[in-house]
Amino acid sequence: MLAVGFIGTSMIAHEFAKALSMLNAYKVKAVYSRTLFKAESFGKAYGADLFFDDLEQMMASPELDVIYIASPNSLHFEQAMLAIANKKHVIVEKPAFSNVKEWDAAHAAADEHGVKLFEAARHLHDPNFQIIKDEIAKLDSIDNAILYYGKYSSRYDQVLAGEEPNIFSTKFSGGALMDLGVYTLYAALAWFGEPDSAEYVARKIQTGVDGSGTILFHYPYFDVTMHISKNYNLHAPSEIHSGKKTLILDELTGTTSIEREDSGTRMTVDLAVEPAEHLMLDEARAFQQEIENPSDKYEEWRRLSRQVAYWSEKIRKQAGIHFAADE
Ligand SMILES: NC(=O)c1ccc[n+]([C@@H]2O[C@H](COP(=O)([O-])OP(=O)(O)OC[C@H]3O[C@@H](n4cnc5c(N)ncnc54)[C@H](OP(=O)(O)O)[C@@H]3O)[C@@H](O)[C@H]2O)c1
Repeated sequence: MLAVGFIGTSMIAHEFAKALSMLNAYKVKAVYSRTLFKAESFGKAYGADLFFDDLEQMMASPELDVIYIASPNSLHFEQAMLAIANKKHVIVEKPAFSNVKEWDAAHAAADEHGVKLFEAARHLHDPNFQIIKDEIAKLDSIDNAILYYGKYSSRYDQVLAGEEPNIFSTKFSGGALMDLGVYTLYAALAWFGEPDSAEYVARKIQTGVDGSGTILFHYPYFDVTMHISKNYNLHAPSEIHSGKKTLILDELTGTTSIEREDSGTRMTVDLAVEPAEHLMLDEARAFQQEIENPSDKYEEWRRLSRQVAYWSEKIRKQAGIHFAADE
């Protein structure tokens, strides 16, 4: 049993705690919150029995094996470094870090202390993500791809009311690229490899971050266009085009349908497998296996994670979006 300490008590931390509780491999053991009462009311529902409002105390606890970080993006680095220094494995929510400098320092520290550092990019561990990758590899050529990921954020209402919620703040390394764009970058980099060049047409909002935008990855013989948004909804399926053949994905994360359409034969086949009963189960299982029985997957995941950090920082800065964490 891996004993886990939680940082963050919001919706996503609840979802991860639920996923862990569905596996017989983890124990939700401790919770840190800026408010002790919140730590207790969050943790008791999952059987936790250690509660902290002092982060250093939680990190020093010898009873913990893993720290799960679900705090605002700009806090991930310092919190991960503290966990690593205390020899804890770390599962950090996407986007793991604000920039490549942080990414490199955190991974160097993890190696030095002999612990694993995972970025919780949940779709990467969904079997359908690999099925899509395998189907792309079977295509004779790739002519074009369009990936969509956009969801109106309830916190955008606060922006419209003149506030600056964390997810839309440069202080907390927020914005559409960091929040949802990373999913599309993961997909593009895993499925098509690194591009020759990239650009980002960002639509900035009054807080200085991108509310939406279009990312273009240029490869020698095709382009991948990624539309992302946090201030309007995108419902269009994502598509990968190869002459008469098209792969059509109903969703970029939580994919439930992967249609292969061949206009030459007028055939459509659905290749998707049934998704796990909880969206975070696959990643939780994958991290546990990698901690207990290390394989070469870890290096593969972190190569991809660093590429995502590299390209997101590059196109973000190109689009004139700068974070406090970059200083
Ligand atoms: N994998 C997914 O599907 C998914 C979905 C949503 C979010 N995420 C990721 O999860 C992370 C958290 O996102 P979120 O939307 O939950 O963030 P959030 O609500 O802004 O903050 C998360 C937690 O951090 C603490 N916190 C908030 N503001 C803080 C501040 N100013 N200083 C210190 N601590 C603060 C709060 O815990 P306390 O009040 O208890 O201290 C809060 O519960 C992000 O990295 C995000 O990208 C992932």
